[in-house]
Amino acid sequence: MAALESVISEVHASALEQLARASTLEAVEAVRVDALGRKGKLAEISKSFARLSPEERAGAGKLLNCAKQDLEAKIDAKKASLEHGALDARLDSEWIDLTAPAPGPRPGSLHPVTQVQRELEQVFISMGFAVLDGPEVETEYYNFDALNIPADHPARDMQDTFWLKDGRLLRTHTSPVQVRGLETLGPPLKMIAPGRAFRNEEVDPSHEHTFYQLEGMMVDHDVSVAHLIYFMKTLLSAIFKRDVTVRLRPGFFPFVEPGFELDIQCLICNGAGCPVCKQSGWVELLPCGLVHPSVLRAGGADPEQWNGFAFGLGLTRLAMMRYGIDDIRLMMSGDLRFLRQF
Ligand code: PHE
Repeated sequence: MAALESVISEVHASALEQLARASTLEAVEAVRVDALGRKGKLAEISKSFARLSPEERAGAGKLLNCAKQDLEAKIDAKKASLEHGALDARLDSEWIDLTAPAPGPRPGSLHPVTQVQRELEQVFISMGFAVLDGPEVETEYYNFDALNIPADHPARDMQDTFWLKDGRLLRTHTSPVQVRGLETLGPPLKMIAPGRAFRNEEVDPSHEHTFYQLEGMMVDHDVSVAHLIYFMKTLLSAIFKRDVTVRLRPGFFPFVEPGFELDIQCLICNGAGCPVCKQSGWVELLPCGLVHPSVLRAGGADPEQWNGFAFGLGLTRLAMMRYGIDDIRLMMSGDLRFLRQF
């Protein structure tokens, strides 16, 4: 019957149209249920086959089967392509580049003071010096008294101190390690002691409450200022990687006698005078001198037999000179923008 056949064709065509519009798996499944499901449109149509003659039934049945097969094939194909598309989309969104470098922790770098400290340690080790350590929380005895600075001495005012409630203090210099070193190693000895020192300073671009020094001492028989100058020149040439000219001026520190300020000829202008050396041609670098007999005695060395030299190098200051850093506060800031440059 032609009417039934045209109904089948209509259902087929409209299912194909819906299928073309379906953009999700759910929508495709709805098209399938609507057309091919057990209670779907085509199943409904086949119910009316009972009323047809065998010839009509054969013709309509053939058309119905063709429509079913065509729809099934196209629905399956559409499902497959949607599934594929969903997988592709997921793969796209979850894609990671396994060859990209891992983010991980950034490699760190050594603080400029640490770099200068390690370099100096190598220079001194090569000259036979021991590298010693001392406590940052120190007793009044080692920080002052043993260094010939008694309680009533005005020299105590040179170093404003952080006192602890128990009478100890944050060491104001690394010089206490002179006496500690003498006590542990005994004379003769060559030692350096790099480390932190603290002073109650008003903090500004050139003053910090916390800074690094490197103490040095040599005790032996007949040590003279000539030895002092030799070691200082060797040290400074190693740091600045060229020959340096030095001069000594008198300086006062209770634990050395005689005491000096060692200057180097300005490395910028070679002594002609420039803003860095304030036109003087010289830059003050480190205090030093011959170890005072009282200090030797405090360390258990007989000053009749032994003598020596000592110096105190400002490590923080040296690092600032080396790298051209103009604000000391950067050194303790922990600011990564500053630290990453080294
Ligand atoms: N300890 C002194 C200071 O910090 C420096 C110094 C060390 C001077 C050794 C002479 C000898 O000021």
